[in-house]
Amino acid sequence: MPRPERSLNLVAAGSDDYRRRARRILPRQLFDYVDGGANSEATVRANRRDLDAIEFRQRVLRDVAGPTTATTVLGQPLAQPLILAPVGFAGMMARRAEVQAATAAAHQGVPFVESTLSICSLEEVAQAAPPPWFQLYIMRDRGYAAALLERAQAARCPVLVLTVDLAVVGRRLRDVRNGIDATLGPWGRWRRSADLAAHLRWAVDVGRRGRPLRFGNLEAAVPDARLPTDFQRWIATQFDPSVTWDDLLWVRERWTGPLVVKGILEPDDAARAVDCGADAVIVSNHGGRQLDSAPSTIRALPAVVDAVGGRTEVLMDGGVRSGQDVARALALGARACLVGRPWVYAVAAEGTRGVDRLLTLMRDELVVTMALTGSRDLADLGPHILR
Ligand SMILES: Cc1cc2nc3c(=O)[nH]c(=O)nc-3n(C[C@H](O)[C@H](O)[C@H](O)COP(=O)(O)O)c2cc1C
Repeated sequence: MPRPERSLNLVAAGSDDYRRRARRILPRQLFDYVDGGANSEATVRANRRDLDAIEFRQRVLRDVAGPTTATTVLGQPLAQPLILAPVGFAGMMARRAEVQAATAAAHQGVPFVESTLSICSLEEVAQAAPPPWFQLYIMRDRGYAAALLERAQAARCPVLVLTVDLAVVGRRLRDVRNGIDATLGPWGRWRRSADLAAHLRWAVDVGRRGRPLRFGNLEAAVPDARLPTDFQRWIATQFDPSVTWDDLLWVRERWTGPLVVKGILEPDDAARAVDCGADAVIVSNHGGRQLDSAPSTIRALPAVVDAVGGRTEVLMDGGVRSGQDVARALALGARACLVGRPWVYAVAAEGTRGVDRLLTLMRDELVVTMALTGSRDLADLGPHILR
């Protein structure tokens, strides 16, 4: 990716500007946690490379006045085909980051997906903004997973996103090197504290009013946890490699609203998810954080659309950084895209305003791309706009 130019004003021109700013603001270990992927990060790079490689056809003289980006996903109206993806630990990057992002998403008319592993609880988010979509991991403690489902229904979360690509946690080398799993010796611990202390703006923002960083959705599971690392230890024991399709049926029985299965790359898995009652699937490789050398999502998308596109909506995430990328995915059959890292960088850099601006930027980019490919609304986006 070319190095972004230094700009003369402070207004972000594209999502990469927020990444650069977040890199300066966040302690190294937190920036690396967000930015990194599994092993060699080949899939992180592939997500971007394969999107960049898709060229548009410039189509002219087609009356593209009055373009609209409005759409629906699972019957819910969206002002543009974009959703803020679930990101665990996001509340470490900015003060009450999930609430800030959900507020911006509501203002922009797009959904926010609350991760199981959020700092702000789903109830806190639902009080400050419209109830979020809720993302669940099936944990070893099925009773706790069932309780979370009940909480999400009680808070009127309209959609459940079940993430299925985390049977085990991918090996993320940056986190291992930074000792984020708390396996540091005394010298490493000293360096980690120095890293945190050297980022004063972040420390003041996140620590304002001395509110401790706790995992709001997990309080009841780890009642005597005092530090984030206490929660982390519990979380590490909860990912369950024995999860099967039966567990998807188990969730389907308990969740009465729309159910989205996230983390699908193969057409046969997509078909099986739909057979088990999924109302939509998300083509996702977890932003390249799980199986390294899994295909990029934009490459996996068309076969999944072929397999289930007639029966359900297909969403996609992974490397989406601009409205152009959204247009590429929609042209290949996605109903909408999710973004993960971009909203986290924007909230770290500028809070609610940053996420609000990010969403405006991406919408504007989509509108320009539509106009220059001769498309007036999203239904006009198809393979015919690609070379
Ligand atoms: C720091 C980080 C934490 C994440 N945590 C979760 C999570 O808790 N649940 C989940 O389903 N996906 C999680 N994801 C994956 C995202 O939902 C999404 O699939 C991915 O970020 C999309 O790729 P992108 O970051 O390139 O946009 C996480 C991603 C990142 C970068």
